[in-house]
Amino acid sequence: MSSNADLTPIPLVDLQTQSRQIKADVLRRMGEVIDAARYILGQEVQEFEALFADYCGTDHCIGVANGTEAIHLALRALDIGPGDEVITAGNSFAATGFAIAHTGASPVFVDIDPVDFNIDVTQIENAITEKTKAIIPVHLFGQPARMKEIREIADRHHLRIIEDSAQGHGAEINGHRCGAFGDIGCFSFYPGKNLGAFGDGGATTTNDPELAEKLRLLRNYGQKQKNRHDLLAFNSRLDTIQACVLLSKMQHIEQWTEQRKTVAKWYREELADADLVLPQERGDVRHVYHLFVIRTPHRNELAESLAAKKIATGIHYPNPLSTATPLSDSPTVPMGLPVCRQIAEEILSLPMYPEMNREQVARVGAGVREFLAQKSQTVAMA
Ligand SMILES: Cc1ncc(COP(=O)(O)O)c(C=O)c1O
Repeated sequence: MSSNADLTPIPLVDLQTQSRQIKADVLRRMGEVIDAARYILGQEVQEFEALFADYCGTDHCIGVANGTEAIHLALRALDIGPGDEVITAGNSFAATGFAIAHTGASPVFVDIDPVDFNIDVTQIENAITEKTKAIIPVHLFGQPARMKEIREIADRHHLRIIEDSAQGHGAEINGHRCGAFGDIGCFSFYPGKNLGAFGDGGATTTNDPELAEKLRLLRNYGQKQKNRHDLLAFNSRLDTIQACVLLSKMQHIEQWTEQRKTVAKWYREELADADLVLPQERGDVRHVYHLFVIRTPHRNELAESLAAKKIATGIHYPNPLSTATPLSDSPTVPMGLPVCRQIAEEILSLPMYPEMNREQVARVGAGVREFLAQKSQTVAMA
């Protein structure tokens, strides 16, 4: 039997292997930027914005400093602020709630659907008050939220939609890409995202030319021309150096997304008979598997058992967003977010990256099956 000490660790995300593939192209592009000293809003930013808008199927893309800022500026562009309420999902990264709170508006957290882990559309109308201005669905783990239902609700109540697509690059519903469903789409290019920079980066997407113009002003001190400030705005620009990385990666994004889907298929084969809940992919979507998240009541023990086999795992996220100290006064619908609470105890993210090979997935699969077999034996003997 091979000892665990001999095993090569399997990380949750492997950025080095991917970076090696594009390093030469990125360095060439960066060299041009350095030679021309076009660090701020250089031509590479515009090139990337055009490419990414086209990829999302929107008329405009505006590069910004990070995904949190994308959401924050989107809310500002829609004039959302103190006294307003914004509805979002109870299970997301803190940034979604923080961006809302930073405008002075109040986040209202709605529970999630246990099947796809996205905002429970049957609960959204219970959260709407006369103060509600917008809904921020999060395309969590790479599976789009139910945008048709969300659009119907938003139209009925005259609400705006901002998509948090930080985990949804290239995700689709009926062939239409995330980032094009709402008034504004928001993306993160944090290094570990499906499209990640070599540092922080983000973008907003929209089909509305006026919103696009306002977002451009909001990210750059309200300047249409130098030293003319038309709006109280921010410094929140996508670096030209990061645009170089993103331009290189855009050449591979579709292939990498398909590889993620293949890894997900291998996991399904490995874990077909295992006593746990696999991610459930809705029929009308393209799930881009930012994360591969399983559910089991034995989550903590499973994570420990995999760690002993040098297999890394993650929890996204260990607590409902409404429990974060700065957000703890926020309303929750239904009260206490029972589904969020339960799944927070049971979800486990397995290693997922495009370069994962069949053997690595088989090793994770065997590790999970072995743990579950031991568990069922212990239960049977008790
Ligand atoms: C769902 C979600 N929203 C927002 C963000 C914020 O993005 P960033 O880290 O680029 O600010 C992230 C990622 O970190 C995220 O996963």
